[in-house]
Amino acid sequence: MMTVDEFRARFPILTRRVYVNSCSQGALSTDVDEAMRAYLESWHESGSPWEMWVDEVERLREWFAASIGAGADEIAVMPSASAGINAVASALSFDGPRSHVVIGDFEFPTMAQVWLAQERRGASIRRAHASGDVLPIDAYAAAIDERTLVVPATHVCFRNGHKTDIAGLVKVAHDRGAYVFLDDYQRTGSGPIDVHALGVDFMVTGCLKYLLAAAGIGFLYVRRDLIERFEPTVTGWFGRVNPFAFRIDALDWPPGANRFETGTPPVPNAYAALAALDLLDRIGYDVVGRQVDHLVERYASAARDAGFVVRTPSDRARRGPLVVVQSVDAPALVAKLAARGIIASCRGNGLRVSFHAYNNDADVDAVISALVAEASLLERATATAR
Ligand SMILES: Cc1ncc(COP(=O)(O)O)c(C=O)c1O
Repeated sequence: MMTVDEFRARFPILTRRVYVNSCSQGALSTDVDEAMRAYLESWHESGSPWEMWVDEVERLREWFAASIGAGADEIAVMPSASAGINAVASALSFDGPRSHVVIGDFEFPTMAQVWLAQERRGASIRRAHASGDVLPIDAYAAAIDERTLVVPATHVCFRNGHKTDIAGLVKVAHDRGAYVFLDDYQRTGSGPIDVHALGVDFMVTGCLKYLLAAAGIGFLYVRRDLIERFEPTVTGWFGRVNPFAFRIDALDWPPGANRFETGTPPVPNAYAALAALDLLDRIGYDVVGRQVDHLVERYASAARDAGFVVRTPSDRARRGPLVVVQSVDAPALVAKLAARGIIASCRGNGLRVSFHAYNNDADVDAVISALVAEASLLERATATAR
């Protein structure tokens, strides 16, 4: 197995920058760099090696499935998380007794927007409201009933780092006959997950954040026993039993989740994603999870001790790899940090600092020192709030 130091050494940017922005884009490893060059080389060399390219996509399907405890037949390789959500939404009907979609306040916009777009097809959106930066399962329980069809839920919130109790949500939703559709994008790659044990019905994620690859590729997981219930109307030739049968007279549906796919797969991105999954496998998701948890704790407690307002929950079970500290002018703070060689990001006035296993204690300490130096741009906690 690879150590965290060996892992870190594969990311050249870390010799030049403190990189704490994996919640936006994972850092580029030499492995992914080489894989993308290998794709270009195969194109130069062979011109149109489509059989090999399609095989690479199948290899990716298997690797990703194994990384979340699923079977390859439960995975659709998609060009984005949005495409995965749309494919599922298009397969649901809202004209039966269940037409409600319960959306929590912490969703990434695309998750809310795809379901809002289904209102024209009969869907009715209900909301689960947060109290401040906390979204308890009780808020979902108050909104889910026998009219609820699906509950889309982000695992980690992109805005404040709150991690929802998905196992608790699955219990409430399933007791009332509703599906749970997990958006794991802000967590996948930052530690282990077992989708079967978690019990979600659908899950989407993508490769450009903690999965350490490029834009333009993601995954949809559909629980095996549900797959054959659904025939998406957002479809295409790669959603067929055999795309290369080139049929225009009828639709057939493969038994696997590949029925949710549409067009030609994003081959260059599949090369990048395979290399990144291989690298993550070599360090191991447990090791990644432990390192991320350690860094998050070090950073969040130092930020609190410095008197800053940490919006992310302090309970380890309720947070992921992202910690959000409240600024009075976060875009200005991000620019000040960049001038100090620290790459972070913001949403609203929340400063987002996120960790992967390639980060270390020195990164945390560098960010904290920079925040102390720029303290005029940070909101201060009142003594009681601390
Ligand atoms: C939680 C979450 N869901 C979904 C997305 C969007 O994914 P895509 O652009 O692949 O549709 C993002 C991207 O930032 C995200 O953070």
